[in-house]
Amino acid sequence: MTRRVYIETYGCQMNVADSELMLGVLGREGYVVTDDPAAADLMLVNTCAVRDNAEQRVIGRMGELKRYKRPGVVLGVVGCMAQRLGRRLLDEAPHVDLVIGPDGYRALPELVSNARDGARAADTAFKSWEHYEDVPAVRTDRVGAFVTVQRGCDYRCTFCIVPMTRGRERSRRLGDVITEVGTLAEQGVTEVTLLGQTVNSYHDGEHDFADLLRSVGAVSGVRRVRFTSPYPTEFTDRVVAAMADVPAVCEHVHLPVQSGSSRVLKRMGRRYSREDYLAVVDRLRAAVPNLGLTTDIIVGFPGESEADFGATESLVREVGFDDAYTFKYSPREGTGALRLPEAVPDAVAGGRLERLIATVRDVARRRNAALVGTTHEVLVEKPARRGDLLQSRTRTNKVVLVPGPTSWIGSYLQVRLTGTTGSTFTGMLEVSGKELAVVG
Ligand code: 5AD
Repeated sequence: MTRRVYIETYGCQMNVADSELMLGVLGREGYVVTDDPAAADLMLVNTCAVRDNAEQRVIGRMGELKRYKRPGVVLGVVGCMAQRLGRRLLDEAPHVDLVIGPDGYRALPELVSNARDGARAADTAFKSWEHYEDVPAVRTDRVGAFVTVQRGCDYRCTFCIVPMTRGRERSRRLGDVITEVGTLAEQGVTEVTLLGQTVNSYHDGEHDFADLLRSVGAVSGVRRVRFTSPYPTEFTDRVVAAMADVPAVCEHVHLPVQSGSSRVLKRMGRRYSREDYLAVVDRLRAAVPNLGLTTDIIVGFPGESEADFGATESLVREVGFDDAYTFKYSPREGTGALRLPEAVPDAVAGGRLERLIATVRDVARRRNAALVGTTHEVLVEKPARRGDLLQSRTRTNKVVLVPGPTSWIGSYLQVRLTGTTGSTFTGMLEVSGKELAVVG
């Protein structure tokens, strides 16, 4: 009898990669994937815990999934919210059978089988050795692949729950990463995104992140290497040199800044000042021409004054980010920031968030408008949501919608940017004079 698993994934790219690993663990036991919860024998919700609203969404969604629970069907909550709440979830949500944290996925088949027999369970033990090294991830994307190279986090940013949900930092062995990337390349994947909580602090005891970039970039068939998310102070000269030297490493860095105020950064437990961050940006831009830069920013952190917020806005303009994910600070149980005085009233934080979003959009729109008319190499990823266009991406991580047949998916094209919404672009296949002559 074939069993069917339905999985919904929330949160970061590592969760996407973890879901692919869970499908791998279950696939070995004969499970097949379904995108219909009504047809599933096992429903999994892979969750995020970084902000309260991420958790509220999951709670709402689980109430909906309850409808599909026929006898024998198992509903599991996995990921960071599962790790954070553990048994509490079982106690509070009677329709949930299983709660499994990020280090417990290897036991999925056994726990699911027990749950089917009525044994509900929570498994939130940390396993500092766990990399799921032998698990064949089940990936659906044939163009690009996420490859986790580091799990956990040893930083202690005072706002962040992740060290509590993903445990201690550890890196996979470089050789193991290269073997996996080699297999992916043989299957036709040409773009890999290396994942880690502070990915540029990667160190396997022998090799650092610079070695990793050079080795991954040298795998035959790999045309694009991306990574996320780096920590500002971990851009050693070796790493920056590797980025500049390795042709496959893309000209884009997602570099979370969190705040433009040194005073707030200090209270956040970030290990850099505003000036340090700007200096890193300068070094990156000097080494990598036309670098795309995006970031994460939190507003309304305890003690953030109007002047501190002004410093964040001015930093956005000074750096000229291509885009930014902006968040209102969300207090997380057990984190250092809970003890900080001077909470920012919600209405004030909300107002700052709106102003920041407007600033980010304004900066991005100007930068993007200046790119219209220029030509870029794009990788075609998938059909766009709109019309019969294809979604493609430049090396600098700009999304470009191009008209063309789905047979172009997976190929690299030269496109001329013809317009921008302010955030994404439209583009046309660039046909050289010579090609035109042939076509004509
Ligand atoms: N509140 C708001 N945003 C947060 N982030 C992490 N923790 C919190 C929190 N408690 C944001 C940071 C991080 C991104 C993934 O989520 O900006 O870079």
